[in-house]
Amino acid sequence: MARPGMLIALIVVFQTLISSSTTEFVFEDVFNDPERDTFLHGTFPEGFIWGAATAAYQIEGAWDEDGKGPNIWDAFTHIPGKTYDNQNGDVACDSYHNVERDVEMVKELGLTHYRFSLSWSRIFPTGFTHQVNPAGVQYYHRLIDALLEASIQPAVTLYHFDLPQMLEELGGWENEMMVLYFQAYADFCFNEFGDKVKIWFTINEPKVIAIQGYEAGIFAPGKTRPGYGTYRVVHTMLKAHARAWHTYDQKYRATQGGKISIVFNSFWSEPADPENQADVEAAERMRLFELGSMANPIFGNGDYPELVKAVVGNMSRAQGLTVTRMPSFTPEEQQLIKGTADFFGLNHYSTRFVAYKKPEFNPIPTVYDDFQAEFSSDPVWPQAASEWLKVVPWGFRRLLNWIKNNYGDVPIYVTENGVSEPDGALNLDDELRTKYYRSYINEALKASKIDGVNLQGYFAWTLLDNFEWASGVSERFGLYHVDFNDPARTRRAKNSALTYTQIIKDNGFPSDEQAKVEL
Ligand SMILES: *[C@@H]1O[C@H](CO)[C@@H](O)[C@H](O)[C@H]1NC(C)=O
Repeated sequence: MARPGMLIALIVVFQTLISSSTTEFVFEDVFNDPERDTFLHGTFPEGFIWGAATAAYQIEGAWDEDGKGPNIWDAFTHIPGKTYDNQNGDVACDSYHNVERDVEMVKELGLTHYRFSLSWSRIFPTGFTHQVNPAGVQYYHRLIDALLEASIQPAVTLYHFDLPQMLEELGGWENEMMVLYFQAYADFCFNEFGDKVKIWFTINEPKVIAIQGYEAGIFAPGKTRPGYGTYRVVHTMLKAHARAWHTYDQKYRATQGGKISIVFNSFWSEPADPENQADVEAAERMRLFELGSMANPIFGNGDYPELVKAVVGNMSRAQGLTVTRMPSFTPEEQQLIKGTADFFGLNHYSTRFVAYKKPEFNPIPTVYDDFQAEFSSDPVWPQAASEWLKVVPWGFRRLLNWIKNNYGDVPIYVTENGVSEPDGALNLDDELRTKYYRSYINEALKASKIDGVNLQGYFAWTLLDNFEWASGVSERFGLYHVDFNDPARTRRAKNSALTYTQIIKDNGFPSDEQAKVEL
């Protein structure tokens, strides 16, 4: 269990250490506590991974070219009213036809690694592994070869939201058979690409897929299963991940020598009133619901956190059910899942306040009611284009510490971190993003150097402006600007790209002098 009080005490102890190094602030007018946000100079451990991330559906386009099959995002975005301005990823950044330029940007940034995802239905049009699409396989070989040629390591996500439509028609992630379908797909990819790829991510953000896709229905496949969808989908995905991990471990690790894990996303949940015990408990409950319920099975004892099971069990009982809405793992499944990770993959963007909320017993149960939590934010936190994204650098450090406190010294790769700005006139001077990266990476440095968090890599989200799911191109997260009105999809470096390049070159923020030159 995390002890927020102790964490704060630790931070207080180290304040002296930080403030003796410099008095520079990143957001000087924004925070009340000047010590907490004091800039730290120093560098990351040698061999630190510096990357940027993308996802197939968000950048590739070529949605029905060269034998690719349809996936759930093709189907979803083609239904009127599902996305901002009815936009879709049919062309997106047209990365399918822009391998050279994409790799050139990766080189310009000086990245050591590039994280991208494979489109399952580009490789297997129906999702099933008996019909391979050679053009799809060749596309990924071309991309991987171009990266290796430039001494950049590919870091590959097998599944980033885009399920083959045929598999969705068989029930998608609500279908238990998905565990075996995913294992077969993963097995093919390890065999085909594994001599070149040394970092694998099985599934990106199971919780987002589950809540947005199968509970709220605002992401593909747009299913609404309130109170059940989230738990069932996470349950299947954790088993699918575990089988893929064992496949790699047993069949490929010895010869290929790579690493493989899963990617979780999480806010930092801060108690709205740290003096109020109910709020302190609500914040911890939220951390367990959001991150612990996925991390505990893999990095803990193989099972969901006791607290989460008890809360959903109690809510279900109070709702008049005789069976809890939360599925449970058999002892064999717990053994299968436990320990299936070579590192902790973390996507993080923002922080929220959490206050206790009295349980509500609505006729239709939802996971949101199960949380018994109310969210808010501080009006001084800078607002990104995405409604849910406020800039709160210090929350990043607290989340990294929470992971260390709960799951020990497992190596952590931050697999996504970044900020959105609105679509609009071309403006390459992205000050908010520049400050965001400096301050968030600086909090990661504090976690690494001061708190002893075993942080080994960092991937910025994202390489280039792209199709931001239901928000279309209205929210831009890129280090590079993309002109979506230009058929060539011209890419231009934003100022944040130059800042990130400098941080990578310095492996952090080595000295006052260098930092001043940067600004
Ligand atoms: C669940 O309900 C039992 C019995 O009312 C209670 O003792 C327990 O504290 C509850 N647990 C949680 C986590 O709400």
